[in-house]
Amino acid sequence: MVQVNDSYLRLKAGYLFPEIARRVKAFTEAHPEAAVIRLGIGDVTEPLPAACRQAMQQAIEAMGTREGFHGYGPEQGYAWLREAIARHDFQARGCDVSAEEIFVSDGSKCDSSNILDILGAGNRIAVTDPVYPVYVDSNVMAGRTGDADGGGRYGGLTYLPITAANGFVAPLPEEPVDLIYLCFPNNPTGAVATREQLKQWVDYALANNALILFDAAYEAFISDPELPHSIYEIEGARRCAIEFRSFSKNAGFTGTRCAFTVVPRGLTGTTAAGEPVELWGLWNRRQSTKFNGVSYIVQRGAEAVYSPEGQEQVRALIGFYMENAAIIRRELEAAGLQVYGGQQAPYVWIKTPEGLDSWGFFDHLLNQAHVVGTPGSGFGAAGEGYFRLSAFNSRANVDEAMRRIRAL
Ligand code: MLT
Repeated sequence: MVQVNDSYLRLKAGYLFPEIARRVKAFTEAHPEAAVIRLGIGDVTEPLPAACRQAMQQAIEAMGTREGFHGYGPEQGYAWLREAIARHDFQARGCDVSAEEIFVSDGSKCDSSNILDILGAGNRIAVTDPVYPVYVDSNVMAGRTGDADGGGRYGGLTYLPITAANGFVAPLPEEPVDLIYLCFPNNPTGAVATREQLKQWVDYALANNALILFDAAYEAFISDPELPHSIYEIEGARRCAIEFRSFSKNAGFTGTRCAFTVVPRGLTGTTAAGEPVELWGLWNRRQSTKFNGVSYIVQRGAEAVYSPEGQEQVRALIGFYMENAAIIRRELEAAGLQVYGGQQAPYVWIKTPEGLDSWGFFDHLLNQAHVVGTPGSGFGAAGEGYFRLSAFNSRANVDEAMRRIRAL
């Protein structure tokens, strides 16, 4: 009899977004006439930038010729894309990151889960609460946690609460940890980290031989020139951090799939026997064995993000979504709600009104305004009493959703 991975049975209910989809489906089946507006999952809605489309079209044509055909590519990504990334996203900001340290992939969700393959089972792990659920669930699946308690918190994880009370800034762990997940601009709260705050984390990690898994999938939404986009803008981060980046949200690649992970050379962990081992080599080995790379066509599309036209088009896309975020903030504040985030991030984090918890507010908005958001409690126990709206939608839908909410 084949055995299953028992760790999966520890997972609480469904993954948050399928659970929301299930509830919305039940509602729309019961009310087929309702025009539901989805501001729940952070999925982009606007067309792919022309520069990316053109580059992909050219790549498709090339694939139809003997000279331009590409079979398996390098598992790490094509050198021309890795070089463009290193130059534009890192070296231009003064970060010491080389093309060799960039691993192109099909998504940050995959990479931030897969990274556990190269990390030991005994690590003490810290996550913020609320948190992007993938960090927690992937650890549960890999058997790195205990059981969940009644509040949905797993044994063996150190939770760092981020709420209005601490300005959505995670406190440093009180107990020693080895692995720390950070996400800035933050999903779900929309909070950002200052240089000083990131420096505290880097200093902590260096002092405790800890590794930071830094998710910067939303860095392109930062407009304040004082704020860091990459953890490698902080001195010492090369010795304690891996960074995840994505083309999903800046260039609309959620359905096209392209992302990358930075693993600096010289960044080490230790074996069970205490010997240092370079993580770059382990990740390179992992990717070469379990991954066959992103398609040539898609990588050509991603490369076009860095062309002058691509840069301009991506800036316009981001500007568009950030205007949505500003509208959501303004209208919800006018409706008397307390709102956070949405200024350097595409998510607005809302305090639920008196008397409604996160799922209560979800049901209220779905039933009364036919608007879908994401209950804060789905991101962790400390998210209870909060609610997330995504700025990824058409202007017409955002305007209409806000009109309906204000009319409640
Ligand atoms: C979200 O809504 O939090 C995002 O869509 C998650 C993701 O990008 O995987």
